[in-house]
Amino acid sequence: MSSTYDVIIIGAGAAGLMCASTAGYRGRSVLVLDHTNKPGKKILMSGGGRCNFTNLNSTPANFLSDNPNFCISALKRYTPQDFLELVDRHGIEHEEKAAGQFFCKNSAKDILNLLLTECGWAGVNLKMKTNIESVMSQGNGYHLKTSSGSFQCESLVIASGGLSIPTMGSSSFGYDIAKQFGVNVLPTSAALVPFTLPLQLKERLAPMAGVSCSVEVNCNGAVFREPMLITHRGLSGPAMLQISSFWHPGDAIHINLLPGVSVGDCLHEYRRTKPQSYTHHFLEDFLPKRFARAFSELQQWIKPFQFCHNEDLKAIADVLSQWEVHPAGTEGYKTAEVTLGGVDTRDLSSKTMSARNQPGLFFIGEVLDVTGHLGGHNFQWAWASGVAAGQHV
Ligand code: FDA
Repeated sequence: MSSTYDVIIIGAGAAGLMCASTAGYRGRSVLVLDHTNKPGKKILMSGGGRCNFTNLNSTPANFLSDNPNFCISALKRYTPQDFLELVDRHGIEHEEKAAGQFFCKNSAKDILNLLLTECGWAGVNLKMKTNIESVMSQGNGYHLKTSSGSFQCESLVIASGGLSIPTMGSSSFGYDIAKQFGVNVLPTSAALVPFTLPLQLKERLAPMAGVSCSVEVNCNGAVFREPMLITHRGLSGPAMLQISSFWHPGDAIHINLLPGVSVGDCLHEYRRTKPQSYTHHFLEDFLPKRFARAFSELQQWIKPFQFCHNEDLKAIADVLSQWEVHPAGTEGYKTAEVTLGGVDTRDLSSKTMSARNQPGLFFIGEVLDVTGHLGGHNFQWAWASGVAAGQHV
């Protein structure tokens, strides 16, 4: 005997729960299945426990995809303001931390409770600790064998997310289902992830671990001005996470340690006014003291300015404004916030999120090849793609 629903959604994360309530409010009978013990685990750990749930400045330009126009339609139909209104309707206290980035004032739990409340009101059924053993197309729908029994549905939504943080329930399920039903899957890689460094550089940066400074980083044409954090493992902080989405193994990244400063002019002025001082003294005017000293040692800037020729000053200015770093790699899916690549959106309808070749099969959220910048864009994509599918399942 199998239980029958109009819609089954695999994955009780941000996209799956949003899709579930949207479909439930349309009068569809909805079952959400998930193999972990609790829904929305990534929501709870997001934004340092306070969930950066949207970004008011989110536009399609904040997303990476092989098919960049795909996300436009869904993002237009469900906007950051729409989600903010929902948050306000639930009386959740929030704050804008950086321009456009909205966080919960208290806890990310508020966002999960919102989604679960909406699902409750919409009559959604939720079954956790359920392993999906097989999915077959059957008649006009799908038949699922699971550890909680067999189920049938007309519409099947894959909202199983990407590969980041395997301990939170991530799996390749969505990609496997796509391949099973002839939907193309693009290569994946860890994104919004810290860099690891070659051993020698890592050891030499170790005295600076814990230091954070605002930098401008560029790689492959992308530029971000945000804080960088030096860790015992390598380079992290928003600037590094952002640029990691554009980095390929073997690439160098270039870091301007003094963005907005006319470094050459300032160095000449320093030599004129403080000839007996050293580069680390100059750097201390702009950067944390510990960083200024350790970085000067790393670069072997050991002469006082009075003994520096113009070409020495130029060499110092070049390093400060274009410090070239060759990361050894990234920390990978273990700590990445998202997965780049995934289900090829060329095989889907941008209006409904359904597979073109497979009626009734939908993909939403992070499992798709749509990856946002840091700053609330990834949740906005989860909400928008979830609503787009929820209106058509
Ligand atoms: P999500 O991963 O949330 O959910 C997928 C669900 O599917 C999970 O519940 C999983 O258990 C289930 N599942 C997987 N395989 C399955 C299987 N085989 N069978 C059954 N169920 C299965 N974004 C943002 O905008 N602002 C932020 O502040 C942050 N912060 C942040 C911090 C950290 C540490 C991480 C790791 C990520 C973020 N993100 C973020 C990214 C954001 O969390 C992510 O983009 C969304 O959670 C994606 O939502 P989905 O619903 O697509 O997948």
